[in-house]
Amino acid sequence: MSGLSGSASGDAPKRTAVLISGRGSNMAALVKAAEREDFPAEIALVLSNRADAAGLEFAKEHRIPTLVLNHKHYADRLAFDAALDAHLKAEGIEIVCLAGFMRLLTPWLVERWRNRMINVHPSLLPSFKGLHTHERALEAGVRVHGCTVHFVRAEMDEGPIILQAVVPIEADDTPDVLADRVLEQEHIIYPKGLELLASGRLTVAEERVLIEGVRGGLKPLVLPVV
Ligand code: GAR
Repeated sequence: MSGLSGSASGDAPKRTAVLISGRGSNMAALVKAAEREDFPAEIALVLSNRADAAGLEFAKEHRIPTLVLNHKHYADRLAFDAALDAHLKAEGIEIVCLAGFMRLLTPWLVERWRNRMINVHPSLLPSFKGLHTHERALEAGVRVHGCTVHFVRAEMDEGPIILQAVVPIEADDTPDVLADRVLEQEHIIYPKGLELLASGRLTVAEERVLIEGVRGGLKPLVLPVV
C-alpha cells in the first residue's frame, strides 16, 4: 500500500489550496501551521467564492496569493467547478482543503481530487451532517460532540475519516459556547490532518483511513463522569 499525496522527508512541501467562504479561522490555522519550517505542505492559494469573505484579508496579510471566483458568474455548478479546477491546475496545486467553503461541489470535481481533497466539519461524523450542528447536538441531548477531518466524497459531509476530536457537552452549553470549544479543536486537528496527508502517512482502504504508525484509539471514557 502506498501513501497518498506523500512526500518523503526532504521533498518540496505540497502546494495546497484552501477554499473558504467566510471568516476563515480554519484557513488561518492551516496557514500558521504551514509556517513551521518542517511542515510538509505550503499554503499556495486561498480561494473564496465570495469577495467579502473576511478570511481573504488574513491571507493577504500573510502574503498568500488569493483568488475570488464568484459562483454567481457561472451558468451552473459544473461551469463553476471547471473554472475552479482550471485555476487549481494552473497554480500547480496538489492538495485542496475545504475550510468553511459553503458550496456543494459536483461529483466531477470531487472525483478529480479524490483522496487529495479534505474538509473539516463541526460534528463527530457521521452524526450531524449539514448546518447548525451545535444546536442539533444540544437538542439531541448527546453527551459528546466534536469535529472531524475527512476526505471529501460526492455526498455532503461524507468521506473517509482522518481525525476526530471529542468535545464533552456541559450542562449549561449554548450553541455558541459549544461552537467555540469545537472550533478550538478544529484548529488543532485540521493542521494535523493536512500534515498527515502531505507527508504521505495516509492510506485509504475500503473507504477507511489507515494512518502510518498509528494503530489504536483511546481508552473508553464514560460521560458524564459520575
Ligand atoms: C467551521 O466550523 C467549519 O467546520 C464549518 O464552517 C465553519 C467555518 O469557520 N464547516 C462546515 O460546516 C462544512 N460542512 P471558519 O471560516 O472560521 O473556518
